[in-house]
Amino acid sequence: MGHKPHHRISTQLRFSFVFKMNYFFATIGTFSVLLLLFSAYSNINDLRYRTKTVVGHNLEPTPWHPFFGRTDKPTAFSLIQCSYFNSCPKPTFSRFIKPSHSFSANPLPSQCPSFFSSIHKDLAPWSQSGISLPLIENAARQHAAFRVVIKDSKVYVDLLYACVQSRMLFTIWGLLQLVQRYPGLVPDVDMVFDCMDRPLVNRTWYAGHGAATPPPVFRYCTTKEHLDIPFPDWSFWGWPEVNIQPWEVEYKSIEKGSKAIKWKDRVKFAYWRGNPDVASPLRVALMSCNDTEKWQAQIFRQDWIKESTVGYQSSKLSSQCNYRYKIYAEGFAWSVSLKYILACGSDTLIIEPQYEDFFSRGLIPKENFWPVRQTDLCQSIKEAVEWGNGNSSEAEAIGRRGQDLMRDINIDRVYDYMFHLLVEYSELLDFKPKPPPSAQEVCMDSLLCFADARQREFLERSVASPSKNYPCTLPPH
Ligand SMILES: *[C@@H]1O[C@H](CO)[C@@H](O)[C@H](O)[C@H]1NC(C)=O
Ligand SMILES: *[C@@H]1O[C@H](CO)[C@@H](O)[C@H](O)[C@H]1NC(C)=O
Ligand SMILES: *[C@@H]1O[C@H](CO)[C@@H](O)[C@H](O)[C@H]1NC(C)=O
Repeated sequence: MGHKPHHRISTQLRFSFVFKMNYFFATIGTFSVLLLLFSAYSNINDLRYRTKTVVGHNLEPTPWHPFFGRTDKPTAFSLIQCSYFNSCPKPTFSRFIKPSHSFSANPLPSQCPSFFSSIHKDLAPWSQSGISLPLIENAARQHAAFRVVIKDSKVYVDLLYACVQSRMLFTIWGLLQLVQRYPGLVPDVDMVFDCMDRPLVNRTWYAGHGAATPPPVFRYCTTKEHLDIPFPDWSFWGWPEVNIQPWEVEYKSIEKGSKAIKWKDRVKFAYWRGNPDVASPLRVALMSCNDTEKWQAQIFRQDWIKESTVGYQSSKLSSQCNYRYKIYAEGFAWSVSLKYILACGSDTLIIEPQYEDFFSRGLIPKENFWPVRQTDLCQSIKEAVEWGNGNSSEAEAIGRRGQDLMRDINIDRVYDYMFHLLVEYSELLDFKPKPPPSAQEVCMDSLLCFADARQREFLERSVASPSKNYPCTLPPH
């Protein structure tokens, strides 16, 4: 039972300080392009592994408040209840008032992209054991920010501790949209979510004969060493804190920006702009590659304080497609910037990633991106650029296929992924899901009601309409 102490430690750490520090790191870590830099914290490394005394702040948890910035447990909690919204203003759209729905048999469902087969791999740890209620309850106690039960197409949420910014709000919103997109098709499930950046379910603790069954925890990313189950992150529905639109809107605007400048007119160097101060040695190393003659690269440090005062104009994603090569470097964990970089149609130079999110398994080296080594980083970037400039049409094609991949992963496909993940997961449950007593039913109105004016704008912009077609077909095992 070698995993037990680890669990206890990680739970303890979480509740002593990870809570707020995660807020900080999750904020600056996941997105290199658009976040404010609190330089006072920039020398603090991975606090998850430090002790409380090192931090020197009172970081006692307030695990009650469901959304960042609130401490009023009972009130905030009831705010997202379905019954609350009667006092709310009416939504400014009416798409979610469902007409009676039927799916059309035509066209026949299409095949899902082949990377959807990762779903089988992600759930393999439970394929023999199945998933029991005590396993879920234990996972909820040890790992969860919130627990979601879907029953008869109703969504119930048990809030356990706060997620940073509006991650939870947008993730739950995404689930409600899924239910609305496929009326009557979403299976009953009981799922445990964590919303912090780094995976925590260490594969080695559950390996070998007689090992315990790992807790099934949904998270936005995983690694080869972890068993966390990747789930589409909140930014697909928008990230209001940094002005990132819902994916559907953002993709179109980046694609438009990418069309404004032809490949041959793009700058022949590799480009990166972002925040190196996110406890990422990789990004620090990248700074030293800033030399167009020696390394063929231009690296820019984002000045977030300045950006925020000028309305993020120069960090607009759609105006960052004017380089032939764009570098992707992980930050504190996976970075949501990957999809925006790929969407540019430039040749994406991906520095050996450690983390994967649900769609990055669709990346194929030299097919839709160009791999760059972590060791000899600058040299590796230089080689990539020289190869591309010497084989311009191939490099352009790689960029185009990267963009095609992101076009294919439109929001409809994101829902299909969620759908299949939930279906496969539900088949592992050896009990009938039932909301725990402390869970509340949530619905779109109640979330809109809870959201502030700006969040509300983003949420309304990402409402899904019921699909006429069935989801795509999942590739077999
Ligand atoms: C997983 O746990 C093992 C044993 O405790 C440890 O050596 C290893 O570094 C851990 N892996 C990760 C990715 O944290
Ligand atoms: C990289 O070089 C350019 C041009 O010399 C400069 O403007 C920029 O600030 C440099 N970036 C960093 C991170 O030092
Ligand atoms: C073009 O690609 C070929 C095959 O990968 C490679 O051998 C060649 O060196 C490349 N050209 C340049 C100028 O890098």
